[in-house]
Amino acid sequence: MTIHLLDIDHVGIAVEDLEGSVERYRTLLGIEPVHRERVEDQGVDEVLFAVGSSFIQLLGAIGPDSSVGRSLATRGPGLHHVAYRVRDVAAALEDLSAQGAGLVDRVPRQGSRDTLIAFVHPRSMGGVLVELVQPG
Ligand code: CO
Repeated sequence: MTIHLLDIDHVGIAVEDLEGSVERYRTLLGIEPVHRERVEDQGVDEVLFAVGSSFIQLLGAIGPDSSVGRSLATRGPGLHHVAYRVRDVAAALEDLSAQGAGLVDRVPRQGSRDTLIAFVHPRSMGGVLVELVQPG
């Protein structure tokens, strides 16, 4: 078993109104954003709030054709994915693939914060889109 989960890296939440949602999280939960980034290849603007050693990741769609844009159109705002922190995302993908898990990404790609990431298909994860994150 080469997959080794270190922590929950973040919980990704799709939102319609990113700035309004940031304000709501600040006000209701008393937390401040620690990172903002536009991830062009995922079509998202993300805002991270640190909670313990993990993050809440608010995701706003840059356009309707992005994954988050389609998710907002079909399912509305809400939980989008859960991300687990791993030591070696490539090794984790090999392990999952060998077990027959459905992978969205066969090879790791660049994520925000200089991370390497890959998504695992929700059909293999009880309906939850799962992301693996290797810190940079
Ligand atoms: Co994510």
